[in-house]
Amino acid sequence: MSPAHVVGWGKYVPERVLSNDDLSEMVDTSDEWIRTRTGIAERRVAEDGESTASMATRAAWRALRAAGVTPAQVDLIIVATATPDHAIPATACIVQDALGASNAAAFDLSAGCTGFVYALGVAADMVAARDGAGKKATAVVIGAETLSRFVDWTDRSTCVLFGDGAGAVVLQANGSPGGVLSTFLGADGSGGDLLYVPAGGSEEPASHRTVSQRLHYVRMRGREVFRFAVRAMPDAAQQVLEQAGLTPDDVDLLVPHQANQRILEAAGRALNLPPEKMYSNLERYGNTSAASIPIALCEAVEEGRISRDDVVVCVGFGAGLTWGATALRWSVPLPTAPPTAWGKARYRVWRGYASVRSLIRRLVRWLLSRSVKE
Ligand code: ACO
Repeated sequence: MSPAHVVGWGKYVPERVLSNDDLSEMVDTSDEWIRTRTGIAERRVAEDGESTASMATRAAWRALRAAGVTPAQVDLIIVATATPDHAIPATACIVQDALGASNAAAFDLSAGCTGFVYALGVAADMVAARDGAGKKATAVVIGAETLSRFVDWTDRSTCVLFGDGAGAVVLQANGSPGGVLSTFLGADGSGGDLLYVPAGGSEEPASHRTVSQRLHYVRMRGREVFRFAVRAMPDAAQQVLEQAGLTPDDVDLLVPHQANQRILEAAGRALNLPPEKMYSNLERYGNTSAASIPIALCEAVEEGRISRDDVVVCVGFGAGLTWGATALRWSVPLPTAPPTAWGKARYRVWRGYASVRSLIRRLVRWLLSRSVKE
């Protein structure tokens, strides 16, 4: 059984930028308040027609291209999200169809902002176990969120924090050492009401009352979440390092969930990590929940912040309450040149094929349904 390696990475963020100054025209806030309390300067907001599935699909195509993997090779797609396109079906199934990943199982994973770390842990174990059984497995792990559709744009205490986007990685076991070294996952449901959406689920289905009382939006007790986060992040990172037989001194880059710059700095201090070993892009994207770690990981690679054989620790916390971390040794060569025109064209063909495949399957299903006598 050999460990799973990250062999591809990709991200997608919407074009539309919403700055702190834009927000100060919508609610009673200011650029100064948001920057000093959170470190956020701007965030991306999905355009009409964009959704969690569409952003997840774009990030996944980029990750597949970076890995040189075709959709038909994918065995598993996990979408970590708290903002799925629908309650039913899973967003991962929409992504599976859009990729034309005809051999893949697909499901969503809900663990708030820790979702990507949870999904990475599940997928890494599955890839390693299949490898042990003599079957080469490929998983696409995506974190994607459209929080702009779940925040109350009249509530200044939450709407300034969140943004939209998606990040993805491709995992494969390739027989070499390194890759995902250890995973630690934690949960404490007694803190579920610190960060939640009160209505729209089975306990409180949608009704005129729930809509008029704005119960379909994120509610958060920010201070309590803050206190939980500054304990949970270093704890999860320590646990995962211990499991891997490493110490904070061995870490080359910590890729934390991007929630608040003060939380990142507190975690860095607790782990005794210098700021240059802590990745942050919070200023540009805000908190994109389950998408924040894969977007950050992808940008860290693009910026040359990760080198081959580096120890990278991804660590998150979020609604649930949940928290967790993954330690990995980055063992694949990093790209030295942008993708070639031929490489891009190949994936355009795959995208075209996936659309045609989906249409044909719908057509066949329609024809079959007409041929069945009631
Ligand atoms: N602009 C101006 N004033 C504001 C704003 C705003 N956007 N929001 C709140 N305030 C005011 C409050 O009304 C309050 O005023 P008051 O003293 O007159 O009552 C004052 O600012 C202080 O409010 P606090 O909530 O105490 O501010 P705090 O310093 O705790 O910062 C924050 C709030 C940024 C939300 C912080 O608590 C935090 O980052 N918490 C963690 C949140 C987090 O990480 N959430 C993501 C979890 S991950 C997931 O699963 C999605």
